[in-house]
Amino acid sequence: MKKLWGARFKSELHDVAKEFTYSLGTDYALLDSEMQVNLVHCEMLGKTGIISKSDAQILIQGLKEIWQQLSRSLDNSEKMNQNFLDFEDVHTWIQTALQKKIGPIAEKLHTGRSRNDLVSTSTRMYLRGKVTGLCEAIRRLEQGLVAQAEKNQKVVIPGYTHLQRAQVILLAHHLLAYVEMFERDQVRLFDALKRLNECPLGSGALSGSGLPIDREYVAKALGFSAPTRNSVDAVSDRDFAIEIASDISILFMHLSRFAEDLILWSSQEFGFLTFSDEFSTGSSLMPHKKNPDVLELVRGKTGEAYGNLFSLLTTMKGLPLSYNRDMQEDKRPLFGSIRLAEQVLRVLELTVRTASINSENCAKASRDSFLFATDVLEYLVKRKVSFRKAHDIMGTLVGKALESHKTLSGLSLEVYQKHSSVFERDVFDLFDPEVSVKGKLSIGSTRPEFVQKELARYKKLFRTKGSKRN
Ligand code: ARG
Repeated sequence: MKKLWGARFKSELHDVAKEFTYSLGTDYALLDSEMQVNLVHCEMLGKTGIISKSDAQILIQGLKEIWQQLSRSLDNSEKMNQNFLDFEDVHTWIQTALQKKIGPIAEKLHTGRSRNDLVSTSTRMYLRGKVTGLCEAIRRLEQGLVAQAEKNQKVVIPGYTHLQRAQVILLAHHLLAYVEMFERDQVRLFDALKRLNECPLGSGALSGSGLPIDREYVAKALGFSAPTRNSVDAVSDRDFAIEIASDISILFMHLSRFAEDLILWSSQEFGFLTFSDEFSTGSSLMPHKKNPDVLELVRGKTGEAYGNLFSLLTTMKGLPLSYNRDMQEDKRPLFGSIRLAEQVLRVLELTVRTASINSENCAKASRDSFLFATDVLEYLVKRKVSFRKAHDIMGTLVGKALESHKTLSGLSLEVYQKHSSVFERDVFDLFDPEVSVKGKLSIGSTRPEFVQKELARYKKLFRTKGSKRN
């Protein structure tokens, strides 16, 4: 038996149509989750008396045996290439193997269900495992960032707005900004599991089943919070897949910005960090080059993650309820985005962990006196000069320094005092990166004390179990 349908057809599907419609080449990835679904489904069929207990037992035993056999054949690419042409999809592949193993009793496996509810159930199970894994991978990247932040706690760098030097910040503060983003990404993905975690099995093709199936039992045994409430919705929607692809796209937006910062920092112009040789590449022509290709590919692959999301959204748009075969096209982009995220998170974690911070260069860049113009402005405000006036005074002093090719700290006290009588010699103490960051008072600022507290908070959070995530 090669198809799960066929009695009403006089001829086989044309080879060209087969190649076009068959999906085992992609959906074989559902093997493990589908086998778990099958085992529970058979238990339920036996328990409810829809099939005899002994038939259920034979089905279960047979399933366990073919599970191993099919998993093994996944390693044999030649065999799988043939299988891709021989079986319509993962459901048919399993059903046929079972038939071969245990004979006609296998025909009872599909009792009380359809591939429409089955594929949604297996995909949700698959996603549950994958998303949990992604959340853990995000956590490992965060840990890599926190480790670097901790190792370089005292390092100060210029912070940028519009990619222009703005004010000094702790490098750790900058790295923790990404940890904040990744943490939201992680929680967002984890949260999607709540909405995904209802069990469609038993919704049948679209209207439910006339057999006394026990959906509560199946849902619970498979770890779902409940059976889905509407059979038409259950076989129709892929919002759970779109939500995850969308969460992955947001994650990639952050990963890509992070990669961009690291690429800039590794350039000679910045020189804030050096990647280890293991995560850098050379040039085929220019012998001196050390290129951040890994990071560029993180940025580049973001396009694919966005594309996958749009592919899913576009596939679903305009489909009439309920199931349509178009929906089979959900898997390639969905699985693709997951694989991509797994790959990128891993390589990025290692790239971050093995990079070294060039603290000398960071310190040198942080001595640029204009970075402290805002600190001097606040000095004036603390001495009761209005903010507007203080801004004008500082603007004028900056202009003067630039005109005379001096640094802001290179202007004499007399020049300062000419613009405001509140200036005293202590104003020159402000041109110090350490003084600047220590001078910050507001919650969430780069004040070292606050940054240390954040580091400690994250380290504690990482020690908590995944379930306590939120
Ligand atoms: N392979 C299909 C999918 O992934 C499931 C089979 C449902 N096919 C059908 N003709 N009702 O969506």
